[in-house]
Amino acid sequence: MTERIAQLFARLRPAKVFADIGCDHGYIALRAAESGLAETVYITDISEKCLEKAEKLLQPYIAAGRVKSVVCDGFSRIAEQVDEAMIAGMGGEEIVKILSAAAQKPERLVLQPMKNAPALRKYLVSAGYRIAEDVTFRDGKFYDVVVAERGEDRLTEEELFFGRTNLAERPQAFLDKIKGELTAVDGYLAVPMKEDSRAALAERREKLKEILR
Ligand SMILES: C[S@@+](CC[C@H](N)C(=O)[O-])C[C@H]1O[C@@H](n2cnc3c(N)ncnc32)[C@H](O)[C@@H]1O
Repeated sequence: MTERIAQLFARLRPAKVFADIGCDHGYIALRAAESGLAETVYITDISEKCLEKAEKLLQPYIAAGRVKSVVCDGFSRIAEQVDEAMIAGMGGEEIVKILSAAAQKPERLVLQPMKNAPALRKYLVSAGYRIAEDVTFRDGKFYDVVVAERGEDRLTEEELFFGRTNLAERPQAFLDKIKGELTAVDGYLAVPMKEDSRAALAERREKLKEILR
């Protein structure tokens, strides 16, 4: 199991119905089934070919009726209420699309956007979720994991950009990511560019520097 899968799995909580949306290989669902995390585990993927990999891996659990496999876009063909869902390894905008289209929203979400995390955070709060954890970890690359539960919340601009838990706890992976971004921004600023692009980058640089102060 990779560090990324371990980090994601560690954030799941026992649920009646758990769904791994866009499961691909099915490693997270396998851990969920093996550990008895949920009474029912759904594996879904928009790609039949991807889902076949998970079906192979989870065959004994599917045969026992504990894992249900559905080819579909997001939650669209899951017939029962999902209590907890994992949506990992997709862009933040794609995750927003999937959640927006869900007829019934899960009580708890564990999300790992590959990019556009601020757009996802903004959507979650507008859709009636509270951000319970929002932190960067490292497994070769840097990843963000956002845990959201039904409830009310408000995010500051900094929380929207950087993640609440990162700001409160300043984990090393987050600080390393910010340092890397600062180096990249310094590199961009060293070459000629339009004035408005330079101003936007300079503003970003100030924000990054503030985090490291
Ligand atoms: C990069 S893989 C991530 C797999 C796994 N969730 C992980 O984090 O390791 C993304 C998967 O999401 C699936 N996917 C993309 N858009 C989807 C959607 N709208 N509904 C269901 N699955 C989707 C893709 O087919 C692909 O298998």
